[in-house]
Parts: sequence; C-alpha cells; structure tokens
Amino acid sequence: MDMKFELKAALKCSGILEGSVSQLDIDNCKTYCNTDLLKKGAPPGCGAEIARCQHFGNIIELEIVSDRFVRAHDALLRLKKEFGRLLGKHSIGIRGVEIEDYKITLDWEWGEGLKIRKLPFVKEIKQEKGRLELLLDIDESALDKRIPDRLIRLLEDKRDAVRWKGKSEHWELLFESDKKPFHFDKDPTEEMLKRDWLRHAAGRGQYIYGPQITKIIRALEKILLDELCTPLGYKEMIFPKFVAWDVWKKSGHAKGIYPEAYYVCTPKTRDPEYWEDVMDYFKVTNEVPVDMIMEKIENVGGMCYAQCPPFWIFLQGKIMPDEILPIMVFDRSGTSHRYESGGLHGIERLDEFHRVEILWMGTKQQVIEHSKVLQEKYRRIFNEILDLEWREAWVTPWFMAQEGKAGLAELKEAGTIDYEAVLPYSGKWLEFQNVSVNGDKYPTGFSVKLQSGEDLWSGCSGVGLERWAAVFLAQKGLDVDKWPEKFSSIVGELPEVFRFL
Ligand code: SER
Ligand code: ZN
Repeated sequence: MDMKFELKAALKCSGILEGSVSQLDIDNCKTYCNTDLLKKGAPPGCGAEIARCQHFGNIIELEIVSDRFVRAHDALLRLKKEFGRLLGKHSIGIRGVEIEDYKITLDWEWGEGLKIRKLPFVKEIKQEKGRLELLLDIDESALDKRIPDRLIRLLEDKRDAVRWKGKSEHWELLFESDKKPFHFDKDPTEEMLKRDWLRHAAGRGQYIYGPQITKIIRALEKILLDELCTPLGYKEMIFPKFVAWDVWKKSGHAKGIYPEAYYVCTPKTRDPEYWEDVMDYFKVTNEVPVDMIMEKIENVGGMCYAQCPPFWIFLQGKIMPDEILPIMVFDRSGTSHRYESGGLHGIERLDEFHRVEILWMGTKQQVIEHSKVLQEKYRRIFNEILDLEWREAWVTPWFMAQEGKAGLAELKEAGTIDYEAVLPYSGKWLEFQNVSVNGDKYPTGFSVKLQSGEDLWSGCSGVGLERWAAVFLAQKGLDVDKWPEKFSSIVGELPEVFRFL
C-alpha cells in the first residue's frame, strides 16, 4: 500500500530563539536531517524530508513530508531530539510539540466495497478514485501511543476483512462418522416443552431445565469426566464468570466482542441515598426505570463468553518450570453468555448456556499431541456411548473468529476443529463442541513463560452441554428405551416431579 504523510508541527521552546540560535545553525541542522537523519533505515531515495522550517519567537515550525519508510510522525520524533540537541547548546529546551495538521494519503484500491466513514483520531476522511485521505486530529500523546501506525494497521485489517468476505468462511472436512440410526424427526426443544421438561426463562435465550433434562445433561457431563477428564489426568478449577475488560484486552476479545457481549455494570456508588429516586420510582409505578439506572452505573466488563480467557490471570506474569508440563485443567463452574442473533433457536442456540471448558498447556509438541488424544477420546464417546452421526471440520480458529478476523486456511498447527452433528428434523448440521490448539496466543497475551525459554503453547476444548443434549435428543429422541444401552444405563431413570392442572 503506497502512502504519503504530510505533517505540520510546531516545536515549542523554552526560550526566544532569535539572538541565541542563528539562522545558519538551523539551516545546517535542516540539511543534516534531510540528507541523513530522516533517511536512516529507508531504501535509497526514500524516507522523510523537512519541506519547510521556520522559526519565530519560541517556536520552530516544521512541515514534514514522507513515504511509508520513515513515516512523518516518526520523523518528527527524530527531529525533536535533533533540534533539542542543537538548542541545548544554547540552553534552550523543547517544551512540547503541537501537531497543527496531519494528512495521510493511502492507495486504496480495495476501497471499492469498503466505505470508511469514521475513524478514531480522524477529523476528515476523503475517499475517491483509489485514494483514501485522512486528516488526523492528534496531539503529542497520541503520537507517543503510535496512533497513526495503529490507524493504518486498522485500515489494513478492514481491507483484509473485505477480501475475506468474498470467500466463504474456512471449512474443511476432516472426518465423518458412519451413518447412524435416527429415532426421531422432531425438534427436541419443542418436544421437551410439550412434556414440561423445560421452560423458557424470563430472559432472552434462557431456559429453566426441569429434572429430566437436567439429569440427561448431568449424565453427558459425567461421561465427559469419566471417559476423558479423569483418565487423562485433568484437574478441576473454578474460573471467574464475570470477565473484567483487562482480560478481554489481553485475549483479543476487546477487538470484536461488542455486538455479542452481555455487559456487566456496577453502581457508581452503593450509597442508598444515591439510589433512592430509583427505588421510589419503582415503588410508585411498579416499573423499573432502566433509563435512570443507566445513568447511575458504569460498565466494568461482561459475562463469561469464551470461558477460558479469565483463567489466564492465574498465570499472568509467571514463569513455570518445564517439568510440570503438560498441565490439564477444566472448568464447569457456570454459565456462558452471548447476545445471539435472530438465530435463537431452542436449546441449540442460547444466550445463556452451560459448557465444560477443557484447557491444556505444554510445549508446542505436547499441546499438539494432546489435542490428538482428545480427538480420539471424543470419537470414542460419540461412537460407542452416544452412537451419534457427526463430522469434524477444520474451521476458522475460534480465537480469530471472536476477534472478528477471518480464518486462515494456512494455519495447520494451531487452529480449531469443530464437531458438527446433523439434526434430522431440519437436516441442518449443528456445531456442538470444538477442539483447538491456540498456539502461544494466550501465554504471550498474558506473559506466561517457561523456565527453559521454550514457547509455552495451549489448547482448549469447549463442550456445550445443551448442544450435546440437542444433538443426542434430535437423533435418538426422548424415549429412553430407544437410546443406546450404554447411555441409558448412565442416565438411569428420569425423575417425574411436577404435574400441572
Ligand atoms: N474458548 C473456546 C470457545 O469459546 C472453547 O470453548 O470457543
Ligand atoms: Zn477456550
């Protein structure tokens, strides 16, 4: 992507320049910068240049133009140092930098399908004929935070996302089970509602599970523990279910989770007096004044979304001895929450769901090996106990999908396998769990290291309990006597507790 940078800035000095610094000094400095300092690191003929340099009072005004090799804002930082050195000889310091104008022009052939309307730190955007012109609104502290570079990176990401949209989401079949006998052709949620096994809760995409389906879900969980977690040496942990922003900043979720998060807020104060008007309003109207509440709370994060990210705070900044690897832990301590799209459908797609999250870490080789062991165990469970018809596919890694990035088919070592099963009542395939090798993403994001200096890798596998149930019941039905022998003996008798008149 070809780029042009045009920056107008003023160096504010601690003293009047006239009388102290000669024009010749300034001209010499400018010549040195243009021939040497601003070309450093750039290919021959490239780099930045001071197009104009003027001083009056305690101000040095600079106009810098550059290509992408020494971007004008980097050039400015170099110049600040260099002029600082010159002025220092005359006991004058540079107090600050004011950015008067900053225009970045980019080649933007990919602009076709992508209209850039608004960007942070940009006051004006012009997009025409393969060019994108940005007028930035920044100060020195934004330069220190490398905002211009991050803006360009952001645009590149947006462009890549458009390139990807054209192609379909990555999906590559890895394994397909044998055909299996189906004993049911209805929607299991509908059937469970009819039988009072289940009731829609007060919240969106949320159910109350009655004793029968709860027993089935717990049996599925028990199978997972008995067949996989326990024999492989997994230890149980309890992960937080409220996720503070600090976690999502490091996991990458802060890049894209917004349309799907369940947000969590705390009161601005717990002083009852501060809340009295809200309480009173409810008491006299019987309505909860949500608008009033919104003004009295502040957002601090969201509800558990991907389950494993908040675990990593446990290891953050630590160094571990290699000999304790591989480490295998799991969490089943609570719900996950996603604001699902219109696609909400029974227990197959929920805003509140239950999942066992399996997490392992080790050297790269250990993590990849272990993922294969897990895949074997899962196949055994689906074949021999649940008798499911399912398939496995190599898909966009969950951690990229959740950051809003497109999938990389080229990723072969790190990535996600989705497990999908066919729902006979609709003929659709439903993803019911995944197994992922996450590479060094999490250890890097949370600064976890190994004593040997070797890279720490990790993997995780999310087992959606409602999804397992949905898939099993859709294929095998709700009648216990039609279920595979092994499974029905694990479930035992279904409790009958409620009756309604
Ligand atoms: N953390 C992974 C996910 O969110 C596995 O549960 O998909
Ligand atoms: Zn995970």
